[in-house]
Order: sequence, then C-alpha cells, then structure tokens
Amino acid sequence: MEKPSLIIGTDHGGFELKEAVVAHLKSNGYEVEDIGCYSTESVDYPDYANRVASAVVSGEKDLGILCCTTGIGMSVAANRFPGIQAAVVTDADLAAKTRVHNNTNVLCLAGRWNHVDHSYHDPTG
Ligand code: RB5
Repeated sequence: MEKPSLIIGTDHGGFELKEAVVAHLKSNGYEVEDIGCYSTESVDYPDYANRVASAVVSGEKDLGILCCTTGIGMSVAANRFPGIQAAVVTDADLAAKTRVHNNTNVLCLAGRWNHVDHSYHDPTG
C-alpha cells in the first residue's frame, strides 16, 4: 500500500517533538514536508496550523501533523477549516483509533503531556 503524503508543522513548544517525529517518519520510509518552525524561538502557532490545514484541505497532502506545547491550540486552529478533522492524542492507540473511528486527517501532538515523553512530570498534577 502506498504511504500517504505528509506535512508537519510546529511552534516552538513542539519543536523538539517535531524533530523526533520527522526523524522517525523518515527512518520508516515516509516522505514528510517539514514547514517548521526550525528552532525553539517563539512563533505563532496558528500560522503553522493554517499552512498544514490548507495543504490537507486542498489535497496537496494526504495527512497533517501539528505539534505545540499542548497540541490543543493547533487542534483548535486546524479544526476551523471545513474538511479538517484534527485531534489531540496522547499515545499511539488513540492516534490509531481516531484515524479509523473519526476519519481524523490532522494529528495534533503535545510537546509535553504525551505518553512518549516520560521525562516530564507535571508538578501541578
Ligand atoms: C505557546 O506558548 C503555546 O500556547 C502553544 O504551544 C500551544 O500549546 C497552544 O495551545
């Protein structure tokens, strides 16, 4: 089966996660367009959500991935686009479930509060 075309964007809060996701995807044979950002310097997350959502809505890309500190801002911004179903997920099972059950076409990930980043512990609980 042909692999879907992917586009990924992030703000500064998801930069490190985005780098890891891009490396993981490429090592598994996926082609992914990385629209940035490219450092932890502060940027506005809706700019990246808009670009990723536009590429998916237009059909230029099959699926999008967005990262920010929480994943929530990106999902809210992306879901403003008719034709986008964006969901924040915290582990691989939820990612698979929402793709199959909700036809999600934009995956939103948190630079913190995901179950991959075992090094983070929220002191406020
Ligand atoms: C940026 O500080 C932060 O607001 C952003 O990364 C995102 O989590 C918003 O929902």
